[in-house]
Amino acid sequence: MMKFVDRVKFANENPAAWVATSDGDQPRVRGLALWFADEKGFYFQIGGMKDMCRQLLKNQKVEAAFHKPGEPAGGTVLRVTGVVEFMNDAGLKEKVLADRPFLRQFGLAADHPDLVIFRISKGEAFFWNFETNLEPKKLIIAGAAITNGNTTARLTIESNVSILREKDVLTEKNAASPARKIYYIVQLMYLDQENLTDHHRIYWNFVRAFVKVSPNSMKLIDAISEHVLCTRYYQALKLIRRLIGYEHALMKRTMGADKEISTIQSGYVSYIN
Ligand SMILES: Cc1cc2nc3c(=O)[nH]c(=O)nc-3n(C[C@H](O)[C@H](O)[C@H](O)COP(=O)(O)O)c2cc1C
Repeated sequence: MMKFVDRVKFANENPAAWVATSDGDQPRVRGLALWFADEKGFYFQIGGMKDMCRQLLKNQKVEAAFHKPGEPAGGTVLRVTGVVEFMNDAGLKEKVLADRPFLRQFGLAADHPDLVIFRISKGEAFFWNFETNLEPKKLIIAGAAITNGNTTARLTIESNVSILREKDVLTEKNAASPARKIYYIVQLMYLDQENLTDHHRIYWNFVRAFVKVSPNSMKLIDAISEHVLCTRYYQALKLIRRLIGYEHALMKRTMGADKEISTIQSGYVSYIN
């Protein structure tokens, strides 16, 4: 059984991390001491004048690796891959100053712009050791859990998180049609409930645009929306897969640049803009 809390414990016990950022297309890696980890993510404090801060402001994608030497030979590594969230909470800043009093020697105070705290709150965390070297990665995500193995993994999640199997996950890159965008936004409702209001606003814009140019989809969209309103996101996703099939059939039926679908696309664009 895998538990997110195991990742949290491991990181707190082995806080010296190597943290990679992207500097354009150049990866950069450096040592960073984890401040602490809890069920909300992995917290770091850095100097705002540092290159890594500039890189993270441009691109919030990050990977951190924590290493515990020992058995099995080579030790155990926890890799956390995710997106950084900057924390501007004054209480947190006072707390980091209390935990790291040496920061005051550098002139840092709670209101100093160079006192920067971030957490990796959304992403994947997985363990590596030599015994499991070539096994599919078992991922636990703060806020969600996914495995990329061939079979269904048994996961125990210790916080209020939702689970989607990898085959059900649609990446942002692949959300390239109106129905797929609806799928993607409902997936976000399921996995990222902190930003539910935003996801709902975007969802209703998407579905209104879809129905406007394809009124025949109304019944299906109503059924999907009912699931969404009752927070049955998993069931909604199942129905949206039908909507994707319907969209696909429309695309096939129409010739060349498939008129209806491009109308839907343009309807979608105008709603988004
Ligand atoms: C084990 C270790 C822990 C470190 N912890 C921190 C830290 O918590 N915050 C920080 O700002 N720098 C920390 N540093 C220093 C940074 O690694 C160093 O400033 C580095 O140059 C920052 O990366 P950059 O030059 O790409 O900005 C640590 C270094 C090591 C080796």
